[in-house]
Amino acid sequence: MQPAQQRLNIIGCGKAGRAIARLFVQQQLFTLGAIANRSMRSSGQAVAFVGAGEAVQDHPAAMGAAALWLIGTGDDAIAPAAQVLAESGVLRAGDVVFHLSGATPSSALDACRRLGAFTASVHPVKNFSDPAVAARSFSGTWCGCEGDASALAVLEPAFAALGARLFRIDARYKALYHGGGAFACNFIPVLIELAMRCEERAGIARETALAMFEPIARETLDAVFRQGIAPAFAGPISRGDAGSVRRHLTAMAEFDPRVSALYAGLGEIGLDLVTSLRRVEPARIEATRAAMHSPAAASGASAP
Ligand SMILES: NC(=O)c1ccc[n+]([C@@H]2O[C@H](COP(=O)([O-])OP(=O)(O)OC[C@H]3O[C@@H](n4cnc5c(N)ncnc54)[C@H](OP(=O)(O)O)[C@@H]3O)[C@@H](O)[C@H]2O)c1
Repeated sequence: MQPAQQRLNIIGCGKAGRAIARLFVQQQLFTLGAIANRSMRSSGQAVAFVGAGEAVQDHPAAMGAAALWLIGTGDDAIAPAAQVLAESGVLRAGDVVFHLSGATPSSALDACRRLGAFTASVHPVKNFSDPAVAARSFSGTWCGCEGDASALAVLEPAFAALGARLFRIDARYKALYHGGGAFACNFIPVLIELAMRCEERAGIARETALAMFEPIARETLDAVFRQGIAPAFAGPISRGDAGSVRRHLTAMAEFDPRVSALYAGLGEIGLDLVTSLRRVEPARIEATRAAMHSPAAASGASAP
């Protein structure tokens, strides 16, 4: 059977599911069958967004047979939804069941696998907070895949047809793989927020501080991808300037010890970068390390 004639049912069609389903339909890769969210209203909204399919409430038994099943619920609901699907009587051996989670292995679908379904996960490294924008900009998105070869033989060409850049991930390391993404993107707003708290404490208005940091923050990210990570690392730690580091920490510890602790923890990894470049003498690196861990800084006492 041609992929375009294969029917896709979706259990849990929220932000990510809507964007992916709209693309599958637009590219005529699959025929959309039924969409079942928790509420009928939400299922209807998903059908309207995707532009195809039939809205169903909650239970897979009402969805009819399909060659492909996407379980696009939140991560914690994937295994329970797979269990309900397996017990519904509608799943057939040879059907493909997949999810989109980066932190959850495809083994969350084992209830379906035990019935002879082929299971996999395809994790798009993308922010789907606005599904319409995500669908428009999906081409070029990296997608981490793992699971049964028979499932991936169907899913990988379909995602490739959407312009995805596919790579394989080892299911054992998915939590680490996905957790790493927190540093690459999720925590960037948190780092900016830390900067805002320091500036506000220093008497600089939040809007001024945000505007002041916008150019340098953008330049730094550009430098990471243009020059490399270690060469893009600037500031006192990168120069082995122990005195400034001690003053930073002392000032931060005085208003919020959590901020100074984060500075010291991130600074340790920064020193790994400095060491790798071999541009700063080892003695200066060690002095900077000592400044990051000095009791004076931790207690908030005056720096020399
Ligand atoms: N959002 C992202 O940026 C992103 C990026 C990459 C991967 N992902 C992955 O994509 C998956 C979905 O994430 P999302 O952000 O799209 O979540 P979401 O917007 O919260 O959507 C989840 C959908 O699942 C439905 N649902 C929840 N439990 C259900 C159940 N037991 N039966 C039927 N439907 C159920 C919800 O229905 P109601 O609307 O009725 O509540 C909702 O429509 C997750 O595995 C996530 O890790 C997300």
